Amino acid sequence: MTASRLLMLARSARNASCGSARQQQQQQQQQQRPWAGWRGGVGAPSAAAFATQAAAPAPAKRLGLAGVRHIVAIASGKGGVGKSTVAANVAVALATRLGLSVGLVDADIHGPSLPTLMSLEGEPLATPDGLMVPPENYNVKMISMGLFTEDDAPIIWRGPMATKALDKLMLGTDWGRLDVLVIDMPPGTGDTQITLGQRMPLSGAVIVSTPQDIALLDARRGAQMFRRVRVPLLGLVDNMSHHSCPACGHVEPIFGQGGVQRVAEEMGLEVLGQVPLDSAVRKHSDEGVPVVVAAPESKSAAAYFQIAGRVWEKLQQADEEAARRRAAAGGGGGGGGGAGPKITVG
Ligand SMILES: Nc1ncnc2c1ncn2[C@@H]1O[C@H](COP(=O)(O)OP(=O)(O)OP(=O)(O)O)[C@@H](O)[C@H]1O
Ligand SMILES: [Mg+2]
Repeated sequence: MTASRLLMLARSARNASCGSARQQQQQQQQQQRPWAGWRGGVGAPSAAAFATQAAAPAPAKRLGLAGVRHIVAIASGKGGVGKSTVAANVAVALATRLGLSVGLVDADIHGPSLPTLMSLEGEPLATPDGLMVPPENYNVKMISMGLFTEDDAPIIWRGPMATKALDKLMLGTDWGRLDVLVIDMPPGTGDTQITLGQRMPLSGAVIVSTPQDIALLDARRGAQMFRRVRVPLLGLVDNMSHHSCPACGHVEPIFGQGGVQRVAEEMGLEVLGQVPLDSAVRKHSDEGVPVVVAAPESKSAAAYFQIAGRVWEKLQQADEEAARRRAAAGGGGGGGGGAGPKITVG
């Protein structure tokens, strides 16, 4: 339990005997933290409250993304292929290995998993102008619906509600200055994915797939969807690409071999990295310590570091191209938003 939660519990216990003082406090809290009391459980009135309060903040308050240089979606058409694990490890790798300022959004409104993967819990605090202060761990700031829900409460909002909630998470958060905001996408190519691709200024998308045919089919669909909404594809991640037996070292391509590379070639994309099927990845994820922190010397961690490095190189290239285009169009230099810190990948 976080310190702020404990503090809230202690306060509410103290106020239990004093109804009016408690009401006053609740009103105050509601004003300062419009999301206080949001809960996504079945039929909870606060679900409707979230949807109205979650409508995108007024333009003047769209400070949340103003200082964000790049937004990158980690996606796949298919569920359970390792998107959230890639998102968490890549975000932490960008922050800890490359020293970048990084944020992480859990766009999986119905099945948030980042609070577990990042060991974060408790409702966020508020800035004076009503933005959420994202909690931070492993040098990464994170926001997720999971911070507002009880562990076992189902979130059963329909498409538009979920879209509004995602708006609120992205735009209603005080990210400060970020080099990269990583978005962990839900599975599929539905409302949330299309709306996000159309409305948010994404620098690119990374498609995660396992090498088996059914996953590759959905990975292709996911990639095509981003192309349709004109979001650049940064490349593919070949997850669970092989398993090395810890006893004898035998390498077994459990989900097949070469499938992700084939799709990459077909679509003119790059394979950013191959992550082995590794029980340590699963174990450390369940314990809330990404493998890049728990076992940074492991082969799996090396794969995530490589992916993070390639993603950052590609974002820098995009920055440089944009700067060249501006210069060619007579815009000259001198403007702040240049290519930023140049970091070489080891
Ligand atoms: N390389 C890997 N080796 C071993 N286990 C892995 C690996 N990558 C992911 N996993 C495990 O596979 C499961 C699914 O991973 P994850 O939750 O990241 O997938 P997802 O694509 O985000 O799923 P969903 O579509 O439900 O959001 C988790 O238990 C995770 O720990
Ligand atoms: Mg996920």
